[in-house]
Amino acid sequence: MKIVIIGGTGLIGSKTVDRLRKRGHDVLPASPNSGVNTVTGEGLAQALAGAEVVLDLANSPSFEDQAVLDFFGASGRNLLAAGKAAGIRHHIALSVVGTERLQESGYFRGKLLQEKLIRESGLPYTIVHSTQFLEFLPGIAKSATSGETVRLSPAYVQPIASDDVADAMTDVALSPPANGIVEIAGPERVALSELVRRYLRAAGDARSVEVDPEARYFGARLDEKSLVSDANPRLGAITFEQWMSAQRSAA
Ligand SMILES: NC(=O)c1ccc[n+]([C@@H]2O[C@H](COP(=O)([O-])OP(=O)(O)OC[C@H]3O[C@@H](n4cnc5c(N)ncnc54)[C@H](OP(=O)(O)O)[C@@H]3O)[C@@H](O)[C@H]2O)c1
Repeated sequence: MKIVIIGGTGLIGSKTVDRLRKRGHDVLPASPNSGVNTVTGEGLAQALAGAEVVLDLANSPSFEDQAVLDFFGASGRNLLAAGKAAGIRHHIALSVVGTERLQESGYFRGKLLQEKLIRESGLPYTIVHSTQFLEFLPGIAKSATSGETVRLSPAYVQPIASDDVADAMTDVALSPPANGIVEIAGPERVALSELVRRYLRAAGDARSVEVDPEARYFGARLDEKSLVSDANPRLGAITFEQWMSAQRSAA
């Protein structure tokens, strides 16, 4: 089966390309680096010709509010129109657990627009909601840093390793459309401030974490359960400790 992976050079995209190829599928990684641009439409019709499944694993190059909205709006409209023209049988996108609860954030307004366009497209679809990737911990810490202090909410997170996310995306690509949302999460629930503290300590990073229930997450105020799923998510297997020791070995 021909499967197109938009954002196939990215963190989740590249791992999903490898997994689906190992299962014997004809996988096309598509991104600006390979001449396929969902924002301009360049190369989309050719990439999707003959494909049955499209996975949208792209991300906005800029996290600035308007840029994210423009990216997911244009990218979603172009990709869904090209998918319809090509007769795609399953459109899959990766979004974030709690997107609908985080609408003070420009990034999450962009993700909700992406989801809305998919739901209204008429194409058979699955939207996968994932919790935060463990690989995103440095980005979370950076976004909350001022001087040597990282100010973070003690809201719960249940982070998942990118390998577990790619396993889930592979299974979804080979399953019938859910025509709804399926949720995935990591194996352990922990306070965001505590998780980042553990990460910084393990990474030998001297910054300190200040716990502040009012601290925003990419512009959104959090309550205790904003970032976690109560919808019986599929759980990944890789814990923070296992992931951290793999990072150390790789380094
Ligand atoms: N970070 C998290 O914790 C988290 C949690 C849940 C869900 N998600 C979602 O997971 C998705 C994938 O994230 P990621 O971290 O794997 O992304 P990533 O590593 O940043 O990769 C982004 C990909 O998007 C591609 N791309 C950028 N602009 C494009 C365009 N105009 N047309 C086509 N492709 C384009 C890039 O291609 P080039 O290499 O050619 O530039 C790259 O392959 C995102 O949608 C994100 O919202 C993230």
